[in-house]
Amino acid sequence: MTVQADSCILVTGALGQIGTELVNALRQRHGSDSIIATDLREIDGHSVIASGKFAIADVLDKKELENLIIKHSVGTIYHLAAILSATGEKNPELCERVNLGGLANVLELAREHNLRVFSPSSIAVFGPDCPPFAPQDAPLNPTTMYGMTKVAGEVMAKYYSEIHSVDIRGLRYPGLISWKAPPGGGTTDYAVEIFHHAINSSSYNCFVRPDTKLPMMYMDDAIRATLELMDAPIDSLSSARAGYNIAGLSFTAEELSEEIAMRIPNFICNFEPDIRQKYADSWPESIDDSFAQKEWNWSPKYNLQQLVEEMLKNLS
Ligand code: NAD
Ligand code: SER
Repeated sequence: MTVQADSCILVTGALGQIGTELVNALRQRHGSDSIIATDLREIDGHSVIASGKFAIADVLDKKELENLIIKHSVGTIYHLAAILSATGEKNPELCERVNLGGLANVLELAREHNLRVFSPSSIAVFGPDCPPFAPQDAPLNPTTMYGMTKVAGEVMAKYYSEIHSVDIRGLRYPGLISWKAPPGGGTTDYAVEIFHHAINSSSYNCFVRPDTKLPMMYMDDAIRATLELMDAPIDSLSSARAGYNIAGLSFTAEELSEEIAMRIPNFICNFEPDIRQKYADSWPESIDDSFAQKEWNWSPKYNLQQLVEEMLKNLS
């Protein structure tokens, strides 16, 4: 996707796990002046704030977002602000309000100001009735409030795309593993925390069972998938565009801990499942991403060994 000379990209939720890396990638691609990063909070010394334009903005405040869109001649929004699964189950009302209310504001602004939109979905759209290898057109019956907001978000995105011709695209991200910013309260956070604990204290109490197997992805692959989807010609995209399945890799919590222990020999992982086990058990083990492969040539690069080596190298 090329940014027109007079048009900027606005990113919501820009200080989160994905925004921290996506904003940097967008600034490298389009130039710092073309990207306006926003979030509800400010973090002293955060790389996103230090390296370009930043504004505090609550996605529930439509007028505030609209003022930024007009002031900066925004043409595209990457809408990352959300409440993730574990935090969402602690406060379902907030999760529903932010995830659905925020998206409703972004979609209405996209219709009114002719904006393109990237809106992430998640593997949390699936529920216990989904086969372990999740097809694109699986039943979507999640058991978490977070998952319900993501299903409704895909439906809203399809509506705005079909009825109002808004160019909106989305990915059902797997659990994302990265080292630049901490994860924001999801069920898959154990797959990031384990690296920090392995390096700092050589032990980790993992909050899911050893046999818990979930779809995961290294952040570099996720950022590339996001940019490749937004670059794809619109005619190549089917109705899956509101939430493409994308696969990275799948492994059990025990396989991850063993892979780390091969490189940190005194590392010990204990397994003490908590309530998040229930959310993990409701999600599929792996993802059929044939639509993404066929329609915009998606292919992940990182396997488990490469991911573990990258994480340990960068965190050490
Ligand atoms: P995160 O929790 O790390 O970051 C979310 C950001 O949104 C935070 O910086 C937070 O301050 C901000 N925010 C919260 N409420 C806000 C509001 N009212 N107004 C403005 N900003 C607000 O989340 P993330 O991991 O970066 O996820 C980004 C998107 O990707 C979300 O839609 C999430 O559901 C989706 N996703 C993430 C993962 C993952 O593993 N990280 C997996 C699947 C889908
Ligand atoms: N990683 C996210 C979570 O666990 C999945 O959307 O909430």
